[in-house]
Amino acid sequence: MDTLFGILLLLACIGASPIDRRPVVERFNPVRTFSNPTTPLQVGNGNFAFGSDITGLQTFLPFATMSSWGWKNDSLPPGKTVEDVENYRGVSWDNHGRLVQYDFNGGDPDIEQWLISNPNRVNLGRIGLVFRTPDGRNVNTSEEDLTDKRQELDLWSGTLTSAFTWEGERVIVTTIASQESDNVGIRVESSLLRTGRLNLFVDFPWNDGKAKFSAPFVGRWDVPANHTTELSTRSNLDEDQPVIRHTMGASTFFTSFGGDTFEITRDSESTHRYTVKPLEPAASFTLTVAFRPVESSTPLPSFPETHKVASATWNEFWRNGGFVDVLTGSTDPRAAELQRRIILSRYLLRVNEAGDTPPQESGLVNNGWYGKFHMEMYFWHSAHWALWNDWDLLRRSSDVYSRFLPSSIRRAQVQQNWDAGARWPKMTDPSGRSAPGQINNLLIWQQVHPIVFAEYEYRAFPTREILEKWKNIVKETANWMAEFAWFNESTGVYDIGPPMYVVSEDTSPNATRNAAFELAYWDLGLGLASSWLDRLGEEVPASWTSVKENLAALPMENGLYSVYDGIEGNFWNDPAFTNDHPALVGLHGWLPQTKNLDVKVAATTAEEVWSHWNISNCWGWDFPMLAMSAARNGQTNKAVEWLLHPLFQFDDAGMPIGGLFWQEDGMGVGVKTRQDSRETGGM
Ligand SMILES: *[C@@H]1O[C@H](CO)[C@@H](O)[C@H](O)[C@H]1NC(C)=O
Ligand SMILES: *[C@@H]1O[C@H](CO)[C@@H](O)[C@H](O)[C@H]1NC(C)=O
Ligand SMILES: *[C@@H]1O[C@H](CO)[C@@H](O)[C@H](O)[C@H]1NC(C)=O
Ligand SMILES: *[C@@H]1O[C@H](CO)[C@@H](O)[C@H](O)[C@H]1NC(C)=O
Ligand SMILES: *[C@@H]1O[C@H](CO)[C@@H](O)[C@H](O)[C@H]1NC(C)=O
Ligand SMILES: *[C@@H]1O[C@H](CO)[C@@H](O)[C@H](O)[C@H]1NC(C)=O
Repeated sequence: MDTLFGILLLLACIGASPIDRRPVVERFNPVRTFSNPTTPLQVGNGNFAFGSDITGLQTFLPFATMSSWGWKNDSLPPGKTVEDVENYRGVSWDNHGRLVQYDFNGGDPDIEQWLISNPNRVNLGRIGLVFRTPDGRNVNTSEEDLTDKRQELDLWSGTLTSAFTWEGERVIVTTIASQESDNVGIRVESSLLRTGRLNLFVDFPWNDGKAKFSAPFVGRWDVPANHTTELSTRSNLDEDQPVIRHTMGASTFFTSFGGDTFEITRDSESTHRYTVKPLEPAASFTLTVAFRPVESSTPLPSFPETHKVASATWNEFWRNGGFVDVLTGSTDPRAAELQRRIILSRYLLRVNEAGDTPPQESGLVNNGWYGKFHMEMYFWHSAHWALWNDWDLLRRSSDVYSRFLPSSIRRAQVQQNWDAGARWPKMTDPSGRSAPGQINNLLIWQQVHPIVFAEYEYRAFPTREILEKWKNIVKETANWMAEFAWFNESTGVYDIGPPMYVVSEDTSPNATRNAAFELAYWDLGLGLASSWLDRLGEEVPASWTSVKENLAALPMENGLYSVYDGIEGNFWNDPAFTNDHPALVGLHGWLPQTKNLDVKVAATTAEEVWSHWNISNCWGWDFPMLAMSAARNGQTNKAVEWLLHPLFQFDDAGMPIGGLFWQEDGMGVGVKTRQDSRETGGM
């Protein structure tokens, strides 16, 4: 499963001496001289991220401040009650003689839509600079009024330093995120502070589930009457800690302020904008802003403390995890870009995708699918932590499987009427509730993931404790896998589906039976689950063995694997089927060789995908998956080509920009990330 890491490691081992990591990391510090209108530079800690414009804050562009915990519900549809939500039931479909109830076509589209878009993830607030005239009036400054702008994100210490000149005076802003709590630490240095010409502001948006995608900015600033804010004390003198309570519907979030002495005042009762005015006439001002889901008067760390801990945490991250150097000793002109992506993606994943819950598609940058996360994507977003040896980060969220186990057992056995096991949700939120929708309810490849996560952990820590920790999850996962497979009397083998959705989500669920990727993944999962019980000295359930030993063969046509059994013979030439995630290449590359796989056929099939698939409709992880298939087939050069494919580009910050524009200077002009702009039916 770790072929990609394997090739990179192989490349890295050409020079065998220890890697001098720091220069490799620092070489790729993003440097900007103007704001990118669509992507921020970010600081963050995995659970919390702060996106900034050229000022190091959110002065001109309202990039998001988001977290893994900041969620809210919209009010219920008119005339509906909480009971209506709780009593929601979807349709029941026949599954080989069993009536299975799903969360879709429930008869009340308003409730169903509410359940899809709630809770939604909020943008916690905005912080920026206020520019003033010598006599204290606000100056409507725009980015064009600043000169000599230069901003550098120091990846090694997680520190963003932004400098510019305004009205002849230099301003330097240093921005960091705490690593122990969800605070942003800010230091402003300028003689403008001494004369009161530079203040800060904080502002709070309304958030709701009206938009499925909110990018590049999240929240609405134009409906202040729909939410409230309230400030507790007006300064931090006498050890008071000013707190702003922000209430949206039934949810309240708390923003606390600490640092050098300041006064904070609300600009007007009709907005949620507050001004923070330093009280000491010094040329430097530090502010710590803490975002919290609950009220707390815990003292806030000072800027120097925050900076010290944050730098140390980032240094450790770079020093202690896995590391790949493809540059040293390489004459391949592609090495630098490959290395840049490795470093920037490590940084961005640490900021956006190392939280207490699985990350959403767009991390903490902006919102897609209302900010919810997708359990099938959890593998791609987080399994890499295991391979880079970042167990502390992976373990923050991987207990999602124990948290969601009771509700997944209920889903399988109570709601869906299966005799055993746990069925994992797809699109969900921290409560574990499944979002309604056909794809959300009929997709199955997320089912096997927990067994793979368990196996990775055992491989790194082969102890009884790890076996026990995952035991019930592995058991209930495999129980449902065995349960879902059904014995086809006419062929004498176990089939999977219908109904089911395949990885590419583009075949008819009622017609989809014995999908190739899912069959291989079932084989892998049941095999790993069986060895799990062997290691524990427990008996492997006969149902698992029976299904595993008698699983339908992977569907084949003309010497190639097909997406599912019975798909039209000419599907290779049918754009309806050669679009979207090409999971056929995952058969050998993403997956190791499973018992039911012929690697020669898999290799030929992968090459057929390379030449027949609509690559311009491939998404983020499709390209690494294509690269993994090439690597597993021994075509390492092709693997690098897939990784650096023209349609798989990243801007100067390492953010995905698809394939339309990409310039060295980082202007991904107005290009939405491909993943963000994607619409999928049934969700
Ligand atoms: C949203 O509402 C649902 C249904 O009433 C409830 O279970 C959930 O806890 C609420 N979530 C938030 C964040 O308020
Ligand atoms: C799929 O099957 C279900 C139940 O068997 C049926 O109600 C539904 O209409 C079918 N959908 C299509 C598109 O045929
Ligand atoms: C500030 O200036 C911009 C144009 O530079 C304008 O669009 C905006 O409305 C102005 N804001 C205020 C509050 O005057
Ligand atoms: C704000 O509240 C008003 C009155 O309740 C409502 O009509 C309107 O739809 C709300 N606006 C948004 C953006 O939610
Ligand atoms: C059993 O398998 C055969 C051959 O794959 C298939 O044609 C048939 O539809 C399957 N049975 C059912 C009930 O789906
Ligand atoms: C291939 O994908 C692109 C991008 O989504 C789409 O515009 C195009 O129509 C697709 N081509 C075919 C033949 O489906």
